[in-house]
Formats: sequence, structure tokens, C-alpha cells
Amino acid sequence: MRVAMIGTGYVGLVSGACFADFGHTVTCVDKDASKIERLHQNIMPIYEPGLDDLVASNVRDGRLAFAVDGAEAIRTADAVFIAVGTPSRRGDGHADLSYVYAAAEEIADLMDGFTVVVTKSTVPVGTGDEIERIIRQRRPDADFAVVSNPEFLREGAAIGDFKRPDRVVVGTNDERARAVMAELYRPLNLNETPIMFTGRRTSELIKYAANAFLAMKITFINEVADLCEAVGADVQQVARGIGLDNRIGSKFLHAGPGYGGSCFPKDTLALVRTATDAGSPLKLIETTVAINDARKKAMADRVAEALGGELKGKTVALLGLTFKPNTDDMRDAPSLDVAPALIARGARVQAFDPEGMEEAAKLLDGVVFTDGPYDALAGADAAVIMTEWNQFRALDLDRIKLLLKQPVMVDLRNVYRPEDMRARGFRYFSIGRPL
Ligand code: UGA
Repeated sequence: MRVAMIGTGYVGLVSGACFADFGHTVTCVDKDASKIERLHQNIMPIYEPGLDDLVASNVRDGRLAFAVDGAEAIRTADAVFIAVGTPSRRGDGHADLSYVYAAAEEIADLMDGFTVVVTKSTVPVGTGDEIERIIRQRRPDADFAVVSNPEFLREGAAIGDFKRPDRVVVGTNDERARAVMAELYRPLNLNETPIMFTGRRTSELIKYAANAFLAMKITFINEVADLCEAVGADVQQVARGIGLDNRIGSKFLHAGPGYGGSCFPKDTLALVRTATDAGSPLKLIETTVAINDARKKAMADRVAEALGGELKGKTVALLGLTFKPNTDDMRDAPSLDVAPALIARGARVQAFDPEGMEEAAKLLDGVVFTDGPYDALAGADAAVIMTEWNQFRALDLDRIKLLLKQPVMVDLRNVYRPEDMRARGFRYFSIGRPL
């Protein structure tokens, strides 16, 4: 199959490289010439484990190419994927679809022969209908079908998620489009991945409902963690105790500083808007959004409490800044709430992140970025684990104790065991576990 992938962001680049690896011929198209130029030099615009090797080998074998001008790729494609950004629109939280519609217009002008137009971007219910209308209006003669095919990739694990997904969802009622999509994903038959065909609107909603449910699950355990602290219970054991029930499942029950990233905050907000507009509000998700926003802000208070309530003149070391490990993504990271709140209360903040500092430096004023975790800890009054990068799981605790002014650790990811930390002489604070 020949594939054109419009947009070389996170989703487009990973999906394009993986489809090429499946054996298809893929061209990834992006208007940003410097990005395409860097991709030609195998420089990835994002940090994703394994992506550079996957891109390099498929480029070498002639299955993957990059282009600024999509004309040739779109003209010859069996399937054109729209994988452009859908940021939250300022003011109302709706997804901004201007890039999606611009891509639809471009495709309309360039496509030739039966073409399947696929939305990979997360788009609100009904967007497929609008894309169809746009294309039909510009090219009344065109032979095409618009399909919804949401992605369920996690940053940091995206290649594995693409190649070994729990399921693939394809929203279309068009038989020819269905055959093209089945062929594109045929390699997944080997590991018996269910490919679920649904109506287009249903598929669009599945994506939002999945992310909203996961966000709600995290928020649930975060609230239970607070309750654990109040009543002297251990949230990790509660999570295990409920998660072993198959109906609940053990994943996404890790309590922390609140969810962040490019998807959950944006998608929950967009779903809330869609539901309100449709006259069928989703109260659980509205509440989830509000609890999570408040939680991220409240994390600075935990640091203050650990230091006796006063932050003026104190130095705080933040270990980790990205919204989760194995990514350089800073979007909606809890650190973006925590660091400014600490500074506003008079603290000096020293921070280290293995991949996120370049991005963080653009977003965080007044933070001192250091070369390594131990530099961040030197002379600090407290160590705060913001993100559970592997390198923070094996820190030299004796060295930390010598570097810190006082042995205080606030572990917002429950990386360490309270009893171990106590035995080593730390005043250790974590999430939802007895002190
Ligand atoms: C999420 C979904 O997991 C993917 O299935 C989906 O495709 C993607 O959004 C998307 O819509 O594109 P991602 O944002 O990369 O993926 O990251 P997650 O691993 O889901 O983590 C999101 C946030 O939740 C992070 O801040 C993480 O720290 C937090 N989290 C996750 C918890 O606090 N506890 C958990 O148990 C799990």
C-alpha cells in the first residue's frame, strides 16, 4: 500500500515509520522545511526510544521518505492520513481543527483515484463528516472515503504500542475503505490484534472516551491516595487490592501529582465541551478535570509542609520536569504548576531532567537548570521527585544526604519505600502512604 502521512509530529512520525516497517511505502509530509531537513539527516524532532533507528532503517530500505511538498505522495496514495495537531482552542477548550481542515483542503486538491482519507489526529465527534463535506465541495468528482482511525500510543512506548496494540479501531461504513484499512494493518493479524470496525462517529468517540476513562481512573486513585493519608492506609496496596479484580484492572492506578501530557488534559476538556454542546453533559469528566487541575497546583503545598510551612529562603531540587519519563514533552506537566508556585512562595528552584530541560527552559522562568541530578541537589533543603525517570530510582542516597542541607525528600511518584528511606535517616514524604 502507498501511504501519505500529513504531519510529522508525534503521531504522524511514529505511525509513518511503523507503517513503513510493516512493508508499506510511506511519505511523511510536513510544511516545516527545517523539520523535514533534519529528518533527512535522521535527527528526530521528538525524543522517543527506538524511533531514530526505525526511521533510519526504513529510509535505507526505500520504504520511508520525507517531503515538504505533498503533491506526489497524495496523488499516488491509497490512504492519506491526517496526523496534524489539534491543540485546545484558547478560551473555550474546544479542539482547534484549523490544521485538520487545511489538510483536508490540500488532500482534496491533490488526490487522484480512489483515496481513503484517514483521521489519525484526535478529532471531536463529527469531524469526519465535516472533512467529507470540505472535500466533496472542492472536488465534486472525487472518489474517496473518510475514515476515523484513532491512535492509542503512549509517549515513550509508542512503537511497541503501534506494533502490539490491544486493538485497532476503524470507523467507516465504506467497504472499499475497510479493505484498504484491513490491508494496512494486516501484519497485526500475526499477533491476533482485534481490528474493530465501527461507524465513524463511534470511532471518534471511542478515542475520547478511552482517554477520559483513563484520566478518571488516575484521578480516582489520586483521591483515594489523599484519603489513605488521612486515615493511615497505603494507596499502593489499595491499588493492588482493587486492581487484581479483572473488572477493574491494575493499570493506571498509580497515584501521583496529577496527570499531564499532550493528551489527557486536552482531550478531557474537549470531550466535556462536546458533551455540553450536545446537551448531554459528562459530569464525571468535568469533575475529573477540576480535581486534576487543583491537584497539580496543590503539590507545591506538600513541599512547603515538608519544610515546615515556610519556603522563603529555601532551595528546592526538582528531579524530573517532563509529564512522565522517556519523553522530552513538557505539555501540561505538573512541574509547570509546581515550580512557579514554589518560586512565588520565595523558594529557589534547582532542577534537572534527562530530556526535558531544553523545552522546560522556554516555559519556566527563574528555575536554575543543572547538569545532573546531584548538581540540582547540592545545597538544597529538599529533594522533590517530580517524574519517575529510571535514573532517579537508583540514586546514591548517602551522597544525596551529604549534598542536601537537610535530609528531606518529597517523592511525588512513590519511587522509594518509606521504610527504607526512614532507615537511611531521611524525612520522607510520598503520595498516599503512611509516613
Ligand atoms: C495517553 C494514553 O495513555 C494513550 O493511550 C493515548 O494514545 C495518548 O494519551 C494520546 O491520546 O495520544 P500519554 O499522554 O503518552 O498517553 O501518557 P500516559 O502514559 O497515558 O500518561 C499520562 C499522564 O498520566 C502522565 O502524566 C502520567 O504520569 C499520568 N499517570 C499515568 C499517572 O499519574 N498514573 C498512572 O497510573 C498512569
